Amino acid sequence: MRKLAPVPYGSLFFAPMEGITDDSFRKTIQKLYPEWDVLACDFLRVPSAGKYPNKHLIKHFGKDIFEIPWIQDKTMFQILTSHKAFTVEMVKQVEELQIPWMDMNIGCPSPTVCKNRGGSFLLTDLVSLRGLVRSVRQNYTGRFTCKIRIGYNDTNGFEDSIKMLNDEGVEMITVHGRTRDDMYKAPARWEFIKRAVELSQVPIIGNGDIWKTTDIDRMLKETGCHGVMIARGALKAPWIAQDYRRGYFEPTKEETFAKIKHFFHEYRTLLESENISVRGLLKQSKSVSRFMLEGIEGAEPLRRSLMLSQTVPEFYSIIENLK
Ligand SMILES: Cc1cc2nc3c(=O)[nH]c(=O)nc-3n(C[C@H](O)[C@H](O)[C@H](O)COP(=O)(O)O)c2cc1C
Repeated sequence: MRKLAPVPYGSLFFAPMEGITDDSFRKTIQKLYPEWDVLACDFLRVPSAGKYPNKHLIKHFGKDIFEIPWIQDKTMFQILTSHKAFTVEMVKQVEELQIPWMDMNIGCPSPTVCKNRGGSFLLTDLVSLRGLVRSVRQNYTGRFTCKIRIGYNDTNGFEDSIKMLNDEGVEMITVHGRTRDDMYKAPARWEFIKRAVELSQVPIIGNGDIWKTTDIDRMLKETGCHGVMIARGALKAPWIAQDYRRGYFEPTKEETFAKIKHFFHEYRTLLESENISVRGLLKQSKSVSRFMLEGIEGAEPLRRSLMLSQTVPEFYSIIENLK
């Protein structure tokens, strides 16, 4: 397996988001905003019976990525598993495909996932989780990282979870500063990210409630974390990493509208070149636009009409007429 260079201090991670951060979305982000240091794939669920064909994993990771090592290097592949799933089999497959970075999702709050004792539910039993993490580490030679919440119902096991992941050879830990019960409630509790930094020998990536470029430095400074992962704030402003690198630029409403138009022009062009169905194009465009107009003065009716649009021309005429 190709060894990856360490992730530099201050790196910005575009978070994994199910239904959003697929190959086409990541390609658009990479083209328009190469300032993102890491682009994460949304999770791939480990099957509880049988295995996926290789081509399924390759499609999830992104076909082109296999041809472009430097993009491969900045792409985090993610698995979502439970004790019932065939984790070792899938990890061996990821190893055989030489995917150099694999993250394990230990934070998913979905009721179905937790009912099946996966995602954030794994935090309720650290002894069993240790076994699972160990089995992944033993079968994977690439960079193995984990993304956790600060607990399930409470934060009692938080410090032990950080120590355990360190003990088991996990190379980096993203801490989403919420419990499963917190779901996405604000504010994320950054004090736990700070505590993780104090306890961990391996880099901690801070995650939760980064909405503005100034929040990035605040997170780095207040918690001492190694890098910052942004989810909804990056969906609202996929250009936030570029703005940050260019110096705390706070775009005006007009500039934001221009950025939205530019983004959707590229995204649509790419999806159409990949022969996506009309239905798929509308669905993806709506998902991706969900947060973009939120909080912009006077834009709520536009956001609602985007969400209610029934056809691709209707959706894109709203985008083109933003002013
Ligand atoms: C629509 C959506 C989908 C998500 N999908 C994933 C996922 O596939 N894997 C994962 O680890 N986290 C997933 N998350 C969680 C985010 O990566 C992130 O941890 C969380 O939203 C907190 O960050 P934020 O406050 O910046 O949004 C998802 C979040 C959202 C909003």
